[in-house]
Amino acid sequence: MSAPFTLAPLPWDEDALAPTISANTISFHYHKHHKTYVDTLNKLVEGTKYADMKLEEIVRATASASGGDKLIFNNAGQVWNHDFYWRSLTPAKTQASAPLDSAITAAFGSKDALIAQLAEAGKTQFGSGWAWLVSRGGKLAIEKTANAETPMAKGVNCLLTVDVWEHAYYLDYQNARPKYLEAVLGKLLNWEFASENLTKEAHAVRAAAE
Ligand SMILES: [Fe+2]
Repeated sequence: MSAPFTLAPLPWDEDALAPTISANTISFHYHKHHKTYVDTLNKLVEGTKYADMKLEEIVRATASASGGDKLIFNNAGQVWNHDFYWRSLTPAKTQASAPLDSAITAAFGSKDALIAQLAEAGKTQFGSGWAWLVSRGGKLAIEKTANAETPMAKGVNCLLTVDVWEHAYYLDYQNARPKYLEAVLGKLLNWEFASENLTKEAHAVRAAAE
């Protein structure tokens, strides 16, 4: 996908995550915040070298930028992060694949321990940002990033993310970010999406070795 970028459809109905995340929150978050990042990105890249790049390429190319390109990074990063966040959540009961399950046991001991560390990362991210489950060559870790930053910009394979900007929870939980994290991480994480992302990384590693 290169410019003009479009607002990717949500993978579920806007009320599908209620009451953990209300339709009202999803509506504002998706139609106002996410859409504004898309619209702003399209204006900023018009007539620049970024207009013909894919979204991921723009994020990586501008990750260390300053000035005008930093603005492009902020909006491109937020478009990518939000697309990834929606797909990290699901109202369906999902299961980790056998390879993901093994990787979770190796890195954290259990899925509950993983969730506790992800919640801690989200709680302790000062100000706006994101908490992530990532994989480097199949070795899992928890990371947190500020503002529009994303581990993907450094070539790290992202498996799941949770948005800890206030706009993600304020209407439902006011300032209680820990309550939002506890509810979302306990009920809505899409382990099938995480499993697919781990599989893609394994394929990429094999393709690079051939
Ligand atoms: Fe957000």
